[in-house]
Amino acid sequence: MSDPHTSSLPVIGPQPRPVLNQLPAYAAGKPPVTVPGLTPYKLSSNENPLPPLPGVLEGIASATAVNRYPDTLCTDLRNELAPLLNVPADDIVTGAGSLGALMQVLAAYAGTNDDGVQDEVVYPWRSFEAYPIVVELAGAKSVQVPLTTDGRHDLVAMADAVTQNTSVVILCTPNNPTGPSLRRQEVEEFIASVPKDVLIVVDEAYLEFITDPEAVDGIELYREHLNVLSLRTFSKAHGLANLRIGYTVARPEVTKRLRVAATPFAVSTVAERAALESVRREEEVRLRVKGLVAERERVVEALTRQGWEIPEAQGNFVWLPLGDKAVAFGAAAEKRALAVRVFPGEGVRVSIGEEGGNTRFLELAGEALAKLNAVEA
Ligand SMILES: Cc1ncc(COP(=O)(O)O)c(C=O)c1O
Repeated sequence: MSDPHTSSLPVIGPQPRPVLNQLPAYAAGKPPVTVPGLTPYKLSSNENPLPPLPGVLEGIASATAVNRYPDTLCTDLRNELAPLLNVPADDIVTGAGSLGALMQVLAAYAGTNDDGVQDEVVYPWRSFEAYPIVVELAGAKSVQVPLTTDGRHDLVAMADAVTQNTSVVILCTPNNPTGPSLRRQEVEEFIASVPKDVLIVVDEAYLEFITDPEAVDGIELYREHLNVLSLRTFSKAHGLANLRIGYTVARPEVTKRLRVAATPFAVSTVAERAALESVRREEEVRLRVKGLVAERERVVEALTRQGWEIPEAQGNFVWLPLGDKAVAFGAAAEKRALAVRVFPGEGVRVSIGEEGGNTRFLELAGEALAKLNAVEA
């Protein structure tokens, strides 16, 4: 029998949907390289650098019945969250991370219709790099609206980009990777200018790190608007990125559809228990977030003193708009055992991590800016 791998006959294997050939693979933040004598720091994935709270670890350890399927509705967690968020537990739908929850939203609301026309999903760009992947995998068309020069959503241009084919708009606040959060007033105006049959997803993955008192709150909007949905996660402030648990809060008409589209058993009991214990320790979580925000403020102040002009940082990361110097900065960071997230030709996103990593990043940023200024002089 001829070996199909070596046969000269053309092998026609399974062919993926054409969209698969057009999509980039998700580029996860790299781990730091090992440099002798230097503690490595991973500042490339906007993770929480702190280990889980002790009670959360006990919660994980207690979830031993892994031979059984989990409660697909995550009832215990939703009942714990509901009074805290002041929403009915029925309005919460969990997912495998907020990305899993977003995929459920897109599966229900964005795709290719029977007449072949694709729904359009409008979102800011640059923003979370998974958006184009999940939108196009759903069969919908990405409509990317460039950010303003200070890294903010251009909400007027986004409203103009909405057509009769638009089914979903994604707002990302604070915007990953640039950092600014959206303000209540501008989002209210945006909602008023968009047809009510467009679902507006407010991605609030970094909500807990926001200090701007004018910042929008997706759950407040969902109370007032039938077409607004809040997307939240346990990956960032709660530090449970590895366990994959997030959720949406939406009105019953939307929620009913999300439950149909939801992947059954997407959230393990281990993840649910960890999230539950973390919610019960909201005060400790808040204290830890406060510490990370203080570090962010220290980093932003030092960068500003050095002479950097960066967008307002409201998440657990900062953005250096380095343009064509981004790759060189990433390489210099690597030599110092710092993993950062490089967007070639655009900039570098650096997560707020342990104090030592942040300080080493600041040293590097100071030197890089001095070099850039010397070249320009
Ligand atoms: C803006 C934004 N949304 C959603 C996510 C997805 O996070 P997760 O799926 O871990 O909840 C991320 C992750 O980095 C993000 O930056």
